[in-house]
Amino acid sequence: MLVLGIESSCDETAAAVVRDGEEMLSNVIASQIDVHREYGGVVPEIASRKHIEAIMPVIMQALSDASVSLDDIEGIAVTRGPGLIGSLLVGLSVAKSIALARNLPFVGVNHLEGHINAIFLSDDKPDFPFIALVVSGGHTSIYQVKGFGNVTIMGQTRDDAAGEAFDKAAKMLDLGYPGGVVIDRLARQSNISYVHFPRSMKDSRDFSFSGLKTSLLNYIKKRDDRLEDEEVPHIVASYQEAIVDVLVEKTLRVAQETSVNRVVVSGGVAANGRLRTRFLECAREKDIAVHIPPPVLCTDNAAMIAAVGEHLLMGGLRDSYDLNAISRWPLEMAALR
Ligand code: KG4
Ligand code: ZN
Repeated sequence: MLVLGIESSCDETAAAVVRDGEEMLSNVIASQIDVHREYGGVVPEIASRKHIEAIMPVIMQALSDASVSLDDIEGIAVTRGPGLIGSLLVGLSVAKSIALARNLPFVGVNHLEGHINAIFLSDDKPDFPFIALVVSGGHTSIYQVKGFGNVTIMGQTRDDAAGEAFDKAAKMLDLGYPGGVVIDRLARQSNISYVHFPRSMKDSRDFSFSGLKTSLLNYIKKRDDRLEDEEVPHIVASYQEAIVDVLVEKTLRVAQETSVNRVVVSGGVAANGRLRTRFLECAREKDIAVHIPPPVLCTDNAAMIAAVGEHLLMGGLRDSYDLNAISRWPLEMAALR
């Protein structure tokens, strides 16, 4: 089945054409980062407007890159939530319009399910069951995944998401936006033991990153805001290590405790070089297989939405034209349908 995927939940306008849920024929992503950078974060109202401008050109580009036309498309998959409501509505409205005009089936897809299923677009497809860590700007959750749409939550953040912890640290240190990418780059070849940052909730399956953020703030204050430029890479390397430590440790522990020896890591933060290396190293020691999509499939994209949509459409699911976007939509609830 040839599916057109559409994603507009945050600050990326994306469209992709995927065949049979696995073969990516195109994957177009228009980022709004440059627009939001001057505000130090995503401004929802601006995001919606930028999606409106970009969505049709992005879809046309995705069709053209895949060398297909709308006549060839057999179904449409669109992100229904979670995300910014105004942004989600742009993608959803366009998906409905094309579906109606072309008499095509369409389905609304959960963005987190998209992140998990991005791995099936890679060459490193896992068998079920597996433990999935979804780690992005808005989410940090561990799931047990027994099959498509069969997920159980095992742990989640009680406050900030890991991506937020990266972004807020970068903001505090005036390093630019989005913070994860900047810190990833700065931290390379730097001293991970320069500052000792706390690893919170060690014995729990849940996460908490707000204490870590405060601890960085206190460190900066203690130094009277006078940090040498050459110290900053070491500070962010130590900070990154604290995030990476808890993500790797807790995920692998859940895998061991549930006797599931396969782990999938996905979401924007899974693009982090240090996180990828540490997962591969630590899992090898424990005889656990780790599957991480290539970075372009970790951050927001529409191919992952098309991949999930294909399964739903093949299973006979059809959404109706009154389908609404949902800004908060836990994956476990989406999987119930
Ligand atoms: O999945 P995503 O693209 O959007 C959401 O669904 O939130 O994730 C965006 C988050 C941002 O917080 C960004 O700073 C983080 O992923 N991120 C990274 C890296 N690339 C993106 N964090 C750490 N290292 C990276 N290389
Ligand atoms: Zn995402």
